[in-house]
Amino acid sequence: MNTTAVILAAGRGTRMNSQVPKVLHQVGSRPILERVISSLKKAGVKNLVTVVGYKAELVEKAFKERTRFSRQPELLGSGHALACAVEGMDDEEESILVTCGDSPLITARTYKKLIKASSREKNGCVFLTCLTDHPGTYGRIVRDSKGNVLKIVEEKDADIREKQIKEVNAGTYCFGKTDLKRFIKEVKINTKKKEFYLTDIVGIFRQKKKNIETVQCCEEEMIGINTRKDLAVANKIVNKRTLEKLMKSGVTIADPDTTQIDETAVIGRDTIVFSNTVVEKDVIIGEACKIGPFARLRGGTKLSDNVEIGNFVEICRTKIGKETKVKHHTYLGDTTVGSNVNIGAGVSTANYDGKEKNRTVIEDRAFIGVGAILIAPVRIGHDARVGAGAVVTKNKDVGAGETVVGVPARPVEWK
Ligand code: UD1
Ligand code: CA
Repeated sequence: MNTTAVILAAGRGTRMNSQVPKVLHQVGSRPILERVISSLKKAGVKNLVTVVGYKAELVEKAFKERTRFSRQPELLGSGHALACAVEGMDDEEESILVTCGDSPLITARTYKKLIKASSREKNGCVFLTCLTDHPGTYGRIVRDSKGNVLKIVEEKDADIREKQIKEVNAGTYCFGKTDLKRFIKEVKINTKKKEFYLTDIVGIFRQKKKNIETVQCCEEEMIGINTRKDLAVANKIVNKRTLEKLMKSGVTIADPDTTQIDETAVIGRDTIVFSNTVVEKDVIIGEACKIGPFARLRGGTKLSDNVEIGNFVEICRTKIGKETKVKHHTYLGDTTVGSNVNIGAGVSTANYDGKEKNRTVIEDRAFIGVGAILIAPVRIGHDARVGAGAVVTKNKDVGAGETVVGVPARPVEWK
């Protein structure tokens, strides 16, 4: 069956208290909406329509390559948002998957399950629920004594008994298009909130005696980002997934509670990552390296095998050859380091001159003394030595095997 997905992303995101539309906030290094779109595409959904409203231009600009858009001119609730999207669709018979743009952790596998269940339940409604001990502000699933779904009640409208219900609405649904088009018009405004609730449509399907089925997902998946606290929880979940995957692939993570590794990082087998280490987007680390504690590896960093990066070291847009050691209090930016190099404690590259980022090259087996400063652009030749506290100035390259000391650094005989 041909499925079109509608992503609801027009809301103001009031509870985030932000100038930025909610779906543009990041979980890990990717915007919330990017994650939703990727999961849907991975599940095989080809047609995507994202409903935008609050700061629509910003969201459209960020995702113009990834999805079509439908505008919700006035923010009158999730039911109204879906009605706006459905209005613009042609009459071809197909199913509509609806999901919230603020639910970034629903996996492609779960979307696939939902689509499969919906293809069995032609013309009906299948939606995603979750059992939880913390139903919070999620909509409650009300069932009859036989277990049939009667309706979804929003937490704000729930009575004391309904509030106790532990099965909640994940905000993701599949509908047959013909029924959806007809019944969405019957959703009435909620008088308390002055909004059209999409959730009311489930009760309407029930009244019309249409099939209603649910598919369960786990609590970690269904989290909707409404607040900064939710954002922090989602980041924790994504990081946990990344660390578990790395550990399975043969990387030791000494303390998962204090280690943050971006999901794009590639790390070789038998590398050990010690506590309080941060590995950012697009970092590649070889095999049998030792990283941290308290290290920060930033984008564009590539470490070969058996490299050691110690405490309070920051590495940015830098390549490091095998067996090289950078063990304490160092900053290397825009640098290419060879193999078997020793970088002493507190060495810094001055890679930014206020206008441009400049490169430093440190060739194989060079020895950089404690506290040296290398002002880029500059090259330290292979087997060269830079004395402790030396300042190697711009373009004053140090030749292969040469030794320099002092401020500014100058060559000396080394026996
Ligand atoms: C919604 C569900 C709730 C469910 C939860 C799951 C409703 C009424 N309630 O609650 O049952 O448990 O999601 O995460 O749907 N939106 C628009 N236009 C609007 C209003 C909202 O596009 O006018 C979009 C928002 O951008 C958001 C989604 O709809 O992506 C849901 O809205 P939100 O306000 O976050 O609803 P919840 O209170 O989280
Ligand atoms: Ca939400």
